[in-house]
Amino acid sequence: MLKAFTLTLALATSLLASAQSAAVHYDSATKVFRIDGGNVSYVFGVNPRGELQQLYWGGRLGASDSLPAAKPMPEWASFDSSNTTTPQEYQGWGAGLFVEPALKVSFSDGNRDLVLHYESHTLLENGIDVVLKDIGRPIFVTLHYSIDPASGILARSAKIENRGTLPVMIEQAAAAAWTLPPAAYTLNYLTGRWAGEWNLTQEAIHPGERVLESRRGSTGHQANPWFAIQAGESSEDHGEVWFGALAWSGSWRITIEQDQLEEVRVTGGFNPFDLGYLLHAAESLETPIFYAGYSAHGLGGASRLLHHFELEHILPRTAATAKQPLPKPRPVIYNSWEATEFHVDEAGQMALAEKAAALGIDRFVMDDGWFGQRKDDHAGLGDWYVNKEKFPSGLKPLIDKVHSLGMDFGLWVEPEMVNPDSDLYRKHPDWALNFPGRPRSEQRNQLVLNLARPDVRAYLLGFLDKILKDNEINFLKWDYNRNWSEPGWDQVLPNEQKRVYVEYTRNLYAILAELRHRHPNVEIESCSGGGGRVDLGILRYTDEVWPSDNTDPFDRLTQQDGFTYAYTPQIMMAWVTDSPHWLNRRTTSLAYRMLSSMQGSLGIGANIAKWTPEESDLAKRLIAAYHQVQPTIVQGDLYRLISPRDGSEFSATQSVRADKSQSVVFAFIHSTQKGHIFPRLKLQGLDPAAEYSLASIEGKAREGTPETASGAFWMNHGLDFADGFRGDFQAVAFRLDKK
Ligand code: DGJ
Repeated sequence: MLKAFTLTLALATSLLASAQSAAVHYDSATKVFRIDGGNVSYVFGVNPRGELQQLYWGGRLGASDSLPAAKPMPEWASFDSSNTTTPQEYQGWGAGLFVEPALKVSFSDGNRDLVLHYESHTLLENGIDVVLKDIGRPIFVTLHYSIDPASGILARSAKIENRGTLPVMIEQAAAAAWTLPPAAYTLNYLTGRWAGEWNLTQEAIHPGERVLESRRGSTGHQANPWFAIQAGESSEDHGEVWFGALAWSGSWRITIEQDQLEEVRVTGGFNPFDLGYLLHAAESLETPIFYAGYSAHGLGGASRLLHHFELEHILPRTAATAKQPLPKPRPVIYNSWEATEFHVDEAGQMALAEKAAALGIDRFVMDDGWFGQRKDDHAGLGDWYVNKEKFPSGLKPLIDKVHSLGMDFGLWVEPEMVNPDSDLYRKHPDWALNFPGRPRSEQRNQLVLNLARPDVRAYLLGFLDKILKDNEINFLKWDYNRNWSEPGWDQVLPNEQKRVYVEYTRNLYAILAELRHRHPNVEIESCSGGGGRVDLGILRYTDEVWPSDNTDPFDRLTQQDGFTYAYTPQIMMAWVTDSPHWLNRRTTSLAYRMLSSMQGSLGIGANIAKWTPEESDLAKRLIAAYHQVQPTIVQGDLYRLISPRDGSEFSATQSVRADKSQSVVFAFIHSTQKGHIFPRLKLQGLDPAAEYSLASIEGKAREGTPETASGAFWMNHGLDFADGFRGDFQAVAFRLDKK
């Protein structure tokens, strides 16, 4: 008996150890590569033709398991050669390839046939570099693979090199292609529009191709560069899920393709639409990184892996948190945009700051309207000097006031844009993206500056650096309120102009990186009229995002639900705004609005000058309660217990701290129907043997609910809500603390 226990313990320990470790292996006899990390194995090999062929991606294999050498698919018919049906890791367009190519080029002599075969490889600590080369021409592609030892999330990208003497035009370049074997699958992706982002869309994968993309020059509200594919019966809590996210904030594309032999291929990278990247002799092009992972625990397991990976490996650190394993939870902010719009001035902002401080707010953010001749959205963008009518002595008096109230200060900027009615545009009309002699489409009365130009890049870095040097600013809300149109760049040769799609985004990243380097305590929010620029590329340089301009607390529940499939609640800013809401004209209680926003990183965006003492007291109490449990909510394990999608009568989420010492539960009623009571909630992720006390953050549990019970009780029996918890737009929240 004792022996059996010892053995079990040893096995459990070794499994745990293997789940946290990475291993990289190459078998020279079979030419098979294997990468292990977390609970994942990824295997590919060089087949007899020299192609790099995917062999396995899924749950971690035994340490001594090996897979046979790669064998190309047999030719199905003269219409589908083996090249096109063999699942390749990175296929060039050539040799009769009919599926989505990873790389498509035109050589200077008109030849467009590209056939990439294995050349060499280097084993790295947690990854592999594999070099492919065209069978005849000096085009080399280095495929980078690395795995996160904890989550098993792979990072893949490609470096395309022209080692010839003539330029090569790159027309399509993916970061990676991922393959799944024939089976029944469901695809999940996120779609939306302005004020309506983060809709989870689910559909069966059928033969043919589903294209997720942005052709807009930036990430876009309409689709987000994330996917999750569920196998067979997989659900929120159970079953296999493969997921991925592309780290690119420019035009992007992910295709999900079921080929004629029913294999599923996911290919993603730069959007080939209108792309033409002229690669001169000796030049190279690095693609974005395409991250992807696997979970055997449903969509919930997949998003928890992704959340932890983002917190640990993607999000930046400030100087203060440089050595911390996780970035710090976001300060609770106040922002007056919805209350005052462009009508900001010293007295008004100071008055709001006093009110905000009394509520327990950590950071006061001044939004649009403080600069240039900015009275509305017709003028001023580009003129980044303080408007003297609104702030006669500059920003210092306001910033000093905010500091004296115990808050730090943040400022809104929209650096990449210009209003034609601005000094900047009058001086540099050629700085805007445009095709000379053609009309320039304006949206929100503004044009996009061509950040691919070195002078524009220098201007942006210069004025932002100066604002941060001249003022004690801790935070920039970096906005971006339109997409590209007429993306001409006539200062370079015609065949170089389409490089704008790559250079613009790279320069954006370079500016963000340099600003963070020069001002290591400044934090940045990525905002694009709400959630138009949220992706793992921009998140390497920004601490949080503005998910949507839609702050209706009920709409936000579905938006927040969708958002969390791909992104951690840590970055999900959520403001409490006024009721009735400007968008839906819906009236909701302050408690409901507060609890909806407390699911993410809380902010207040209401006109607090008009709040009654009772409203202020409630907000103050809930902000204090939020501060106590915030790390659990934004950095813990998130369980989406009842989805708010499809007009669901009820919804609920639960977050559990990594050490299982605390859990927070939110429950919402849309509109009670036919007297339904809120269903008993079986909690998840607790320590079954530990005792947890239940306390209300807002609202009541059913009479007779134990004040303390085991994790097993809360997970098996569940939590009952008060019978009176009914009505329209109702919310309650509880915390459970381990004794
Ligand atoms: C769009 C943002 O999403 C809003 O929060 C606000 O900052 C406005 N822009 C300001 O113009």
